[in-house]
Amino acid sequence: MLTAAGAAALATAGTDAVSQTLSPARRSSFPEGFRWGTATSAYQVEGAAQEDGRGPSIWDVFAREPGRIRDGSTGDVSVDHYHRYKEDVALMKSLGATTYRFSIAWPRVFPDGKGAANSKGLDFYDRLVDELLGAGIDPFATLYHWDLPQPLQANGGWESRDTAEAFGAYASYIAGKLSDRVRHIFTINEMSAFVELGYGVGVFAPGLKLEPTRLNQARHHAVLAHGLAVQAVRASGRPGTRVGPAENIAVVLPAIDTEENIKAAELATRELNAPYLTVMMEGRYTDAYLAREGAAAPRFTAQDLSTISSKVDFVGVNVYAPNAYVRASEAAPGFVELPLQASHPHMASPWLKVAPEALYWAPRHVARLWDAKDIFITENGASAADKPAADGMVYDLDRVMYLRNYLMHLQRATAEGIPVRGYFLWSLLDNFEWADGYATRFGLVHVDYATLKRTPKLSASFYREVIARNALA
Ligand code: FCB
Repeated sequence: MLTAAGAAALATAGTDAVSQTLSPARRSSFPEGFRWGTATSAYQVEGAAQEDGRGPSIWDVFAREPGRIRDGSTGDVSVDHYHRYKEDVALMKSLGATTYRFSIAWPRVFPDGKGAANSKGLDFYDRLVDELLGAGIDPFATLYHWDLPQPLQANGGWESRDTAEAFGAYASYIAGKLSDRVRHIFTINEMSAFVELGYGVGVFAPGLKLEPTRLNQARHHAVLAHGLAVQAVRASGRPGTRVGPAENIAVVLPAIDTEENIKAAELATRELNAPYLTVMMEGRYTDAYLAREGAAAPRFTAQDLSTISSKVDFVGVNVYAPNAYVRASEAAPGFVELPLQASHPHMASPWLKVAPEALYWAPRHVARLWDAKDIFITENGASAADKPAADGMVYDLDRVMYLRNYLMHLQRATAEGIPVRGYFLWSLLDNFEWADGYATRFGLVHVDYATLKRTPKLSASFYREVIARNALA
């Protein structure tokens, strides 16, 4: 049994241990000037789908098709950010966030996808950007977060090279109008998600299941569009405007981190991202990808490859779940993917398998494979059940657990000198989670969908602390 003296000794020991943990040398700090922010996307938060001349996007059409969205919902109203953006910027400010990643709705600015611009559509982003800057928050804009103008889809969508060209023109217009205040531009959010799920598996808009030849061409047009947008921002943006992708790379983890397995994980990262980040960074499709696709491989020119690999200023990566755990193999291709156990933990979304070390390995692989000098974590976050407690608060301890563990690995990455410059937590608010509708919540701030009332969750307090300390402990 513990005596009073013993308890006192323990308490003192505890105090020493705590003060040691909190001594500056041992704090898990992030680099000075590290940028902390949140992320959202236009279709998921704005609402106002028919306002101020906005044209329809493929998601407006898709969400209306019976059975496409789990709860039968649409983004027509969503969380009404279009009208409540001032309140939402105030929420960001109360977190202490210094950056915000939002997306511009292409069909607000070009209702037909190309041709005449709708100035009222752009006005919204002007107002938003000014509000952010007034709150001391640096705006980072994404040009494409999946809401393709429907008229372009009617003309073949990403299967058509015209879409890539139209995207370049739209990028040029936005850079010309906003780069006096928006100094960081992301081209395309998660090509591998919207192309594979929208044109391959068919569970995202426009709901197609293309055969390999056509799917490969859509992939190619997406990376081409990225390259054209990089060039357009350089040509039309103010000098010093920085541009890069926001890609959800296939994240490959070494099953156990031996030298051999780490090498295998790097090799696998290059191969599993072959049609997306690899060709963007290297200007060539890997031999293995071309061989695997054979006659179905994309048709391209040398000029395309040089456009696709236009030099970027930074690489944005969205990191949630592991795509593969690998170990080294003597046999080609040099790695073996290991199966996940059915018991592997996941968050509320079944796809969101928990692997905190993903936030260490993803930027490390990008830095090592492609010598990226500036990396942003453009998305990371977790879905949770988020049921308000009797006092009305949401104690999302599972999300806090997820964030704490992922951020520990990000801190480790920065401490080792991996050049991660900022982190955007997905998401500021609960919102329209694509095919899952509104049932799946990712926000730091709870939204009551009946009243649209915003209530910060426990995770918002957690994030505020991390930002204030620029450290985890
Ligand atoms: C990413 C998307 C983002 C959001 C999160 C949960 O794949 O970019 O819009 O849906 O997942």
